[in-house]
Amino acid sequence: MDQLKGVVLHGGHGTRLRPLTHTGPKQLIPVANKPISQYVLEDLIEAGVKDTAIVLGDVYPEKVIDHYGDGSRFGVSITYIRQEEPKGIAHAVALCEKFVGGEPFVVYLGDNLLKGGIRRYAKAFTESNSDAMVLLCEVGDPQRFGVAKFDENGNLTGLVEKPREPPSNYALTGIYFFRPTVFKQITQLTPSWRGELEITEALQSLMEAGGHVSYEFVKGWWKDTGAPEDILESNRLILDELETNIQGTVEDPASIQGRVTLGRGSKVMKGSVVRGPAVIGEGTTIEPDAYIGPYTSIGNHVSFRCGEIENSIVMDDCQIDIRGRIADSIIGPGSDLATHRRNRTQAFRFTVGDHSRIML
Ligand code: DAU
Repeated sequence: MDQLKGVVLHGGHGTRLRPLTHTGPKQLIPVANKPISQYVLEDLIEAGVKDTAIVLGDVYPEKVIDHYGDGSRFGVSITYIRQEEPKGIAHAVALCEKFVGGEPFVVYLGDNLLKGGIRRYAKAFTESNSDAMVLLCEVGDPQRFGVAKFDENGNLTGLVEKPREPPSNYALTGIYFFRPTVFKQITQLTPSWRGELEITEALQSLMEAGGHVSYEFVKGWWKDTGAPEDILESNRLILDELETNIQGTVEDPASIQGRVTLGRGSKVMKGSVVRGPAVIGEGTTIEPDAYIGPYTSIGNHVSFRCGEIENSIVMDDCQIDIRGRIADSIIGPGSDLATHRRNRTQAFRFTVGDHSRIML
C-alpha cells in the first residue's frame, strides 16, 4: 500500500473569530481543552500517516511550531511550509508539491472536526485508483460550503464553491484525498471571486480532464469551526463523548455530577457544583460555592470564583470573579474578568481575546 502523506492547513484569515485570532491562528483555539488542529493531527496519525506538512499562515505561525515542534511528541514527523498570504486552499496545497514527492496525500483543513476520524476513508482511497476522493456531509446551509452535484444515478458530476442555488445539500468537508495529478490542475487555476485559488475548482477541472474523483459520505458529525458559535457547538459535540476522569481534589461538601474530567493539581472547593459534561484542566481552582454547568471547558491554571458558568470555554491562566452567570462565552487565555456587584437578572456573554481585563 502507498504511504499516505498528510497536509494540514493552518493559515487563512480567521476574521470571523476576532478578537480570538488577533493573538493566534484560529486552528489553535482549544475545544474541550485541546487545539482544534491537534484533533486533525491525531486523526491523521490514527489513519497511519507518519509524515505531515503543516502550512503556516502569517498569524503567529511561531505558536504553531511551539505546539507541534518536529512532531516527535506525537511520534510522527512534521514539516512546516510557509504560505505568505492566504491565497486559497489550492494555493496552499500547491506549496506542498515537493513535500508530497509523488505519493498520495490527504489535505485536512486545520479548522475542521470529524467524529470518528478518517481511517476508513484513507484505506478506501489508497486501495482505489481514484485521482481524488472527497468526503461529503449533508447540511442545512449548503450555500456556506463547496457543494456536490450528482446525476440521476447518483454519480458525482460536479463541485461548486458556495453556490447561491445549491445543486444538493451535500457539502464538501475540508478533508480531501489526492494523487499528485491534482498539481497540474492547480497550475491552471485563476483566482475566484474571493481572490483565491479554489480547491473546489481544481477538483472540478480534474473531473473535466477525465480524472476520477470518488466520494464517501461521512458517518457521524462534521464541523467547520469558522465562527464563535461553531466553536461552542464543537465543544458540546466533543464533551458529549467525554469520560469521567478525576485526578484533582474535590472537597467535601462539593459535588461532581455527570461526566467530568478534573486535571492534576486542580481543586473543586467546598460548596461548589460541577455538572457535566465538563472538563477542567490542571492546576485550576474552582473556589467555594461556584457552579460549573454542562458543556463547559475550563483550561489550566484558572481561578474561578463565586459565579456560575455554562456552555462556555475559558482558556488557560484566567481569573474569573463574576458575581452572576456566564453563558455561551469564549474567554481567551490570561483574561481577568470581575464584577463588583452581583448581577442576578441576566447572563453575561463574552467573546474576549487574550489577556482581556474586564471589570463590570
Ligand atoms: O470547511 C469546508 C469548506 O472549506 C469547504 O466546503 C469549501 O469548499 C472550502 O472552500 C472551504 O471553505 P471556507 O470558506 O470555510 O475556507 P476557509 O477560508 O475558512 O479556509 C479553510 C481552512 O484553510 C482554514 O483552516 C484556513 C486554511 N487556509 C485557507 C486559505 C484561504 C489556509 O491555510 N490558506 C489559505 O490561503
